[in-house]
Formats: sequence, structure tokens, C-alpha cells
Amino acid sequence: MLLRNANIICLTDSGDYGRISDGAAVINEDIIEWVGPAANLPRTYSNQNENVFDCKGKLLTPGLIDCHTHLVYAGNRAEEFERRLQGVSYAEISRQGGGIMATVTATRSMCEDELVNDSRPRLHALMTEGVTTVEIKSGYGLDTATEIKMLRAADRLTREHKLRVQRTFLGAHALPPEYADRSDDYIDLVCNEMLPAAVEAGVVDAVDAFCEKIGFSVRQVEKVFETAEQFNLPIKCHAEQLSNLQGAVMSASRGALSVDHLEYLSADDVGNIAKAGSIAVLLPGAYYVLKETQLPPVVALRNHNVPMALATDCNPGSSPIFSPLLIMNMGCTLFGMTPLEALAGFTINAAKALGCEDQIGSIETGKKADLALWQCAHPAELSYHIGLNPCSAVMQDGKWRDQAQP
Ligand code: NIG
Ligand code: FE
Repeated sequence: MLLRNANIICLTDSGDYGRISDGAAVINEDIIEWVGPAANLPRTYSNQNENVFDCKGKLLTPGLIDCHTHLVYAGNRAEEFERRLQGVSYAEISRQGGGIMATVTATRSMCEDELVNDSRPRLHALMTEGVTTVEIKSGYGLDTATEIKMLRAADRLTREHKLRVQRTFLGAHALPPEYADRSDDYIDLVCNEMLPAAVEAGVVDAVDAFCEKIGFSVRQVEKVFETAEQFNLPIKCHAEQLSNLQGAVMSASRGALSVDHLEYLSADDVGNIAKAGSIAVLLPGAYYVLKETQLPPVVALRNHNVPMALATDCNPGSSPIFSPLLIMNMGCTLFGMTPLEALAGFTINAAKALGCEDQIGSIETGKKADLALWQCAHPAELSYHIGLNPCSAVMQDGKWRDQAQP
């Protein structure tokens, strides 16, 4: 297929994020075979008149990648939202047994089919805004069977919609009540039973943990990562979201793909993250919903060339947000990112956060033909509008999606 007349934002390293204003691209099966200015299109392609698609000057970007989500869960936490509005803090609700635990109870009691059905509209919301790859975490089971059920649901749901997925085991998300005051025993269960069983079930691509006072200590998270390493699984970490426990530096020094949240990361520690090569995944949705005031050290991350990804973190508690475009806006307005950093955050840097940048995240020869077409003249429009979805078509693996058949 030949795509013509496109305003292509390649998200390659070249200046202006690889913008080609009168661009063309050639897709062979599921792969980008050629991309460049229309004027340079080789004759073999330009002579083609079948299977030519006119992009009518619209913006063509890589398909969006949401690299941090908790989108498979049961129920919702609107009542907790009301309580937080009355002044009860997120951490306080968690200590009282609400928060993540409320979703755990709901998720344990729902069967896999229902979980898939309940989660589907949330995935659809992401898809309508151009998402072609999504990361989905477990972590609302906190027992072996439910963690596996969640990851199976994630698998089924994304397969059903032909999305690319990374399934992340987050058994160390919260302490289940059965293990109250026995957090080390729970970590042993995660390492000796839960993670091995989930790996055996073939549903784990990566391992995450919540390093926080209301989650697990650095030492406990390290144990989980040691087990992940035994299975050769990449690691990532919820770190420095509510306090500075030094989870990000520990995770980065173990080679984490990404360290996520980072509001309380000290600018002094950014150099170590840079040296280790981890990606910073920023989640302004949780910052906004929790009315956080501590900002992540974006300037230091930028100055140290730490790639910054953005993600919805969609979950029923801290980020009931299913709009990547809104998150891009928040990345700019709340965190001071540029619109192009925000777009890189949902494409090339998100691909890096998943360890998939050789396949997806930019429009380059040899990469997967996962693309989004937008009714926009300038890439900053993607971060600028709120509540307006300019996505006009999405290509996944070289095929236009039915929902947006142009
Ligand atoms: O990324 N921080 C921990 N986990 C989620 C929130 C989970 C929840 O509140 O249900 C997060 O913010
Ligand atoms: Fe999260």
C-alpha cells in the first residue's frame, strides 16, 4: 500500500522529530518498506496506481503506545473519589483497607469472561485515540489464581482487537489482608509461587512492583526483581510516587526498562537513572487526580537526556483516565513538557519503556506498520485540544482498523 500526501511525523532522531511535510510511505504486509519525501519516492512505487491511499495532507504518526496501564479490573471507585473530595487522602484510604484493596475484592469475585467484558470499553477508549500497543498490569488479584486470571483477560482482550500487548505481572502491588503484618511472607509467596505460576501459564512479559510506604520496601522489591531476573523477565517499578524511598535508583541500577511516576525523585538522582539507561515514565493523570503538588524533575530528566515516556496509568483509583491525548495535554500543562516531547512520550519513548523500540514507536523502514492518521495540521494540536478527538484512522500491522476505515 502506498500512502501519499501525508504530513509525516516520523519521531526519528532527526530534527523536528523527523517531520516530512509532503511525505509518502510504502507498506508491505505489516512492515514499513519505505518512507520519505514524496519527491524522492522511487519510480517502482510512484508508478503504482492500485492500493494507493490519499492522506489528504493529514498528520501521520506512529500508532500511540500506552506503556503503563491497569486497564483490566472490576468495579470502580467513585465512592472513594467522593471521600477524597471531602479531604481523605489516597494513602489514608489505602491504610483503611480501601483503595487498591477495594478493587482487589471486586476483581477476585469476577470471572475471566466478565473481566474481559468490563474492561473492553476502556480498551476501546484508548483505541479510538490511536493506540496500537498497550501495556496491561495485573496487581488487583494478589493471589495466584486472580493474578493469572487478570493477565489472561489482558491477553484475550488485546488478541480480540489485534493490539500489541505487554503483560506485566504486578503481584507486589499491595499487601492482601490475608497477609496483614506479614509482608515478607507475602513477598515470599510472590517469588516462590505467584510469579513462577504466572510464568508457567505463559502470560508474563515483564515484572513490576509498587515501591512505596503503602506498597513494598526497596529490599522487598529487590527480591521480586531477583526472581524476575531468574526468569529472564524485564523489570520496571512504580517508584517515588508518594515519597522518596530510592526505588527508582535501585530499579535503574538493576537494569529496569522503566521507572514510573517519579514525583518524589530527587533531581540529584537523575544522573544515576541516566547512567543506567532506564526510561522515565511520567503519569500526570495520577498527579492530577490525587491533587499532588510535588512535580517530577522534568528539567533534570531533560538535561540528562533521560527519555521521558507518558502513559495514562488508567486504573480505578489514582487515574480513571482513558484518554492518551488528555494525558499529553497534562504532560505539557502540568509537567512543562513540550508538545513534541508529549508525542514522543506516547510513541518512541513509550516503545523504549517496553523494550520494543526496534519494532515500533517511529515511522522508519523496517518497523511495524502501526500508524495513526489525524485531522491536524500541526503535531502540537494533539496536546492542545481537550475533549476533541482528531483521530481519523488507525493502521495496525499494515491494515486499517475497521472502526476507522477511511
Ligand atoms: O499507578 N501506584 C500504584 N498503583 C496505581 C494505582 C492503583 C489504584 O489506586 O488502584 C498507580 O497509581
Ligand atoms: Fe500504575
